[in-house]
Amino acid sequence: MHFFSLILSSAAIAAALPTPESSEGNQSQPFSQNGLAPWDAGAVTQFPIHSSCNATQRRQLELGLNETVTLAQHAKDHILRWRNESEIYKKYFGDRPSMEAIGSFDIVVNGDKKDILFRCDNPDGNCDNEGWAGHWRGTNGTDETVICDLSYETRRSLSTMCGLGYTVSESETNTFWAADLLHRLYHVSAIGQNWIDHFADGYEEVVDQAKKNATLSTRDSETLQYFALEVYAYDISVPGVGCAGVQHEHDEPEATTSQPAPTATTTDAASTTADVPENCHTHEGGELHCT
Ligand SMILES: *[C@@H]1O[C@H](CO)[C@@H](O)[C@H](O)[C@H]1NC(C)=O
Ligand SMILES: *[C@@H]1O[C@H](CO)[C@@H](O)[C@H](O)[C@H]1NC(C)=O
Ligand SMILES: *[C@@H]1O[C@H](CO)[C@@H](O)[C@H](O)[C@H]1NC(C)=O
Ligand SMILES: *[C@@H]1O[C@H](CO)[C@@H](O)[C@H](O)[C@H]1NC(C)=O
Ligand SMILES: *[C@@H]1O[C@H](CO)[C@@H](O)[C@H](O)[C@H]1NC(C)=O
Ligand SMILES: *[C@@H]1O[C@H](CO)[C@@H](O)[C@H](O)[C@H]1NC(C)=O
Ligand SMILES: [Zn+2]
Repeated sequence: MHFFSLILSSAAIAAALPTPESSEGNQSQPFSQNGLAPWDAGAVTQFPIHSSCNATQRRQLELGLNETVTLAQHAKDHILRWRNESEIYKKYFGDRPSMEAIGSFDIVVNGDKKDILFRCDNPDGNCDNEGWAGHWRGTNGTDETVICDLSYETRRSLSTMCGLGYTVSESETNTFWAADLLHRLYHVSAIGQNWIDHFADGYEEVVDQAKKNATLSTRDSETLQYFALEVYAYDISVPGVGCAGVQHEHDEPEATTSQPAPTATTTDAASTTADVPENCHTHEGGELHCT
């Protein structure tokens, strides 16, 4: 026992000391700091916005991205406070442990933002397609997101949450800059890491997924957006009330409550499908998703 621990500790000391004969010299020390720069020197804490964005575009994007951080931060805080005691947590994430959802929000708030770029110069020409509000550049620039004029004209501030007819279940998640940009960030590999993806599409599928098999829910882009919007509405905008909108019962196996016709602009969808690149697909409202 004593002998064993003696051997163990001398071995540990030997491992911790730099080997004097090492030709690598000082580099054999695991952490050689020069004493000038802190460990996180060069951290990028603000989302980079390209010079192609003019003053108003930059300002709107900054405000929108700040609201994305506000939305994600609150979603994380709600989970940390309530875990699975939250009815809203259970509605969207079923019986899943909470750490993956917490991390999916935290990386948006606190993750390094170096490898992300928002630009306004329409480099792929996709903004010319009617109804397109922006797109991820796919293989043309995996870290880059283009924001088109339509976004600046239509996306709303979180301050209007629960007003102007918005409900979580019946309105599009991209009503707000905050959720729209959250979605776009999850497509960027530095944030979504090709792990957060689209498994359920739209409110009904998201709620069904949590009930039937919630395994993928905590890394499902739409689920994360709907959850963040609903807890923000319930906790912050109209405390204790929110604006969840019409709730459907999905308990019958028939599941006859077929999707209420989405208010989405079929004209937009129809007019864009022709121009979609091979590795991409569009969602309602002309959002482009590329793989
Ligand atoms: C090791 O550190 C000393 C003192 O800081 C320096 O003079 C020497 O060049 C270093 N050697 C190597 C191989 O980096
Ligand atoms: C920025 O560009 C948009 C779109 O072209 C335009 O509507 C807006 O007026 C511009 N803002 C300024 C300050 O020039
Ligand atoms: C966004 O948030 C950052 C950090 O809090 C702040 O410095 C910046 O002024 C904000 N931008 C706008 C447009 O509010
Ligand atoms: C919440 O999680 C705890 C710990 O995993 C578990 O024991 C409990 O049954 C869960 N409660 C609900 C309502 O899901
Ligand atoms: C990438 O660039 C090519 C050539 O300009 C274009 O045809 C394609 O649509 C672009 N892809 C995306 C996702 O915008
Ligand atoms: C739930 O979904 C996961 C991921 O698709 C799958 O691996 C698992 O087998 C499913 N579980 C059940 C009980 O269907
Ligand atoms: Zn998407």
